[in-house]
Amino acid sequence: MRETPKHLEELYQNLLTSTHRSEMRGHLDTLRRLAFHCDHVTEFGVKTGQSTLAFLCAQPDYLVSVDLMLYPQIVDLMAYTGRTSFCFKREDSRRVEIHETDLLFIDSTHLGEHLKQELDRHASMVRKYIVLHDTVSAGLKGFWYRDERYVHIHGKGLSVGDKGRKRRGQGLLSTIDAFLGSDNGWHMVKHYEHSKGLMVLGRENVGAID
Ligand SMILES: C[S@@+](CC[C@H](N)C(=O)[O-])C[C@H]1O[C@@H](n2cnc3c(N)ncnc32)[C@H](O)[C@@H]1O
Repeated sequence: MRETPKHLEELYQNLLTSTHRSEMRGHLDTLRRLAFHCDHVTEFGVKTGQSTLAFLCAQPDYLVSVDLMLYPQIVDLMAYTGRTSFCFKREDSRRVEIHETDLLFIDSTHLGEHLKQELDRHASMVRKYIVLHDTVSAGLKGFWYRDERYVHIHGKGLSVGDKGRKRRGQGLLSTIDAFLGSDNGWHMVKHYEHSKGLMVLGRENVGAID
């Protein structure tokens, strides 16, 4: 039985009604709804854990979250995972080993060549959905803002490093087009164009969503 623990639901509702600017907020209900029908969820790009919170609210059996950096908000979330077995991996999404998963959410860099490496390595491990964020804002021109504030982690202690650096390159759409055009059984299920864009790709057996 998948019931969202009370504290997680409160955190989620607070996030939805928060006045802080957030490009993810407009997609959180979609992520939560998709994950509700998945036993195993994997995400690349965690940062302060907005998507992580949406996935935890869906209470899948397993949630694996991968990021180069561990933010304090994720350490806090680890105390409230309910029935979900939650694992944070501080690794590079292009090299990490993942298990078979129902849903892979990719929200790491917003660069086409980076996405290509992630899809080449991991798409075969995904049973239902690959979900991509920033498909409008980084559709044609890609970017990555490297926030180095939390690079240095000693145990649980976090220290402040350099300021962020921005990289630019090819956007996500050319990589997605090549992926969908390669006759690998994946198709586009839905493209939400608000809140910087969220694209849902599905396996052949996956039908339409709202
Ligand atoms: C846009 S943020 C993720 C936001 C998050 N999904 C949310 O809902 O709050 C992008 C994150 O991707 C991480 N990232 C960038 N390159 C990565 C890589 N190669 N492997 C893993 N994580 C990466 C960054 O450290 C950053 O925290």
